[in-house]
Amino acid sequence: MNATIEFDGKKYELPVITGSEKENAIDISKLRGQSGGLITIDPGFKNTGSCESKITFLNGEEGILRYRGYSIEELAANASFLEVAYLLIFGELPTQNELDNFFDDIKEESHVDEEMKKILDGFPKSAHPMGVVSSLTNALIAFNPSSVNVDSEEDMYKAIIKILAKFPVLCAWALRKRTGQPLDYGDNDLGYVENVLKMMFKKPNKDYEVDPVVASALNKLLILHADHEQNCSTSTVRIVGSSHAGLFASISAGVSALWGPLHGGANQAVIEMLEAIKEDGGDTKKFMAKAKDKNDPFRLMGFGHRVYKNFDPRAKIIKKSADEVLGNLGIQDPVLDIAKGLEKEALEDSYFVDRKLYPNVDFYSGIIYRALGIPTDMFTVMFALGRLPGWIAQWREMRLKKEPIGRPRQVYTGENHRAYTNINNR
Ligand code: ACO
Repeated sequence: MNATIEFDGKKYELPVITGSEKENAIDISKLRGQSGGLITIDPGFKNTGSCESKITFLNGEEGILRYRGYSIEELAANASFLEVAYLLIFGELPTQNELDNFFDDIKEESHVDEEMKKILDGFPKSAHPMGVVSSLTNALIAFNPSSVNVDSEEDMYKAIIKILAKFPVLCAWALRKRTGQPLDYGDNDLGYVENVLKMMFKKPNKDYEVDPVVASALNKLLILHADHEQNCSTSTVRIVGSSHAGLFASISAGVSALWGPLHGGANQAVIEMLEAIKEDGGDTKKFMAKAKDKNDPFRLMGFGHRVYKNFDPRAKIIKKSADEVLGNLGIQDPVLDIAKGLEKEALEDSYFVDRKLYPNVDFYSGIIYRALGIPTDMFTVMFALGRLPGWIAQWREMRLKKEPIGRPRQVYTGENHRAYTNINNR
């Protein structure tokens, strides 16, 4: 199949690539060469595919999300986070033996160099945990300097195991620093998710019993966040990695990209917004009006999505899970009622309906994190922990396919050539 572009009296035949879900894309990679300079422009990449990928399928119109062909609903209901990590990275669900070996390898690497503690010490207690996690992930490079030979599966595997093992430690340390707790390595006898909880919450003078309700809720949240094809942070990971910067540097860049309130930082922003509405007396209509007012910068956080123009399937699962988790833990959170009220109003309001703005993954996740005892400014760190396997899988795919360095073009709209003026004559 071909597409034809006609410009300035000339026609250019361009190949059309069709994906396994019958999505078509015009391959414009040769257009500039063929036409002597014609390029396409698409700020924010709203209509541009950056790669072919076998990892995650997403249909925003129909609200479908699948990892390696498996629906998010089935995975969230049945799988463990580590199983999903294996699936995303290596392409198939692991056998019990493969999963056990994978986890054993992770446990072997679940320590970080003691000198990393000095770096953590340098941060003020008030530092945002996302900044701390991004910096510490980058600092890991100094302690693991050998570069990955991507032609060696063994080298690749070792790097992947190291980051899967050490990243949760860094996330937990960022919290412990913030809460003034001594640093902890958790317990290798526990499951991956259970150990994350212990590393975060164990008090120095008290045993920590993992609550199965809490562990199961966190397991589900991590799975729901594990990949989402070419979003802002994943594209960042791929593009940084495309310069052959290492895996840890690429992941650190991904953490920074995720931090922004238009991306992963929205989960923190949602709770802050719901709290502000509560403090203000709970008048959701007032905030709905602000969100619709073009002269007001306020947006309804947790609403809208670049790709989903229908319900975000993750938000559906999380909303149900929020009710279950709060019920099981016996928690009543007034912001859950405010969230449900806002959602109901938005879904009936023509502004949101016309623009196809639905709740996204971040709308209810913060309410669960809060019920699990996770402080608000750690919410985006939890998102990063969940997204880690997706970032790794996308980085690995990009490196194995030997993709070229990511380097977009531009349309220059600045000054034409002009002569330099001496400073005394300006
Ligand atoms: N509240 C009010 N209006 C909104 C919202 C919102 N949350 N989201 C989009 N709109 C409006 C825009 O003002 C725009 O209106 P217009 O056509 O009249 O100008 C229209 O809907 C389209 O919005 P864009 O910003 O052009 O859509 P885009 O795809 O660029 O942005 C984004 C998507 C960033 C997610 C946006 O919906 C948003 O800011 N949402 C709030 C932040 C958020 O929840 N982010 C998390 C996303 S999920 C994730 O990254 C994990």
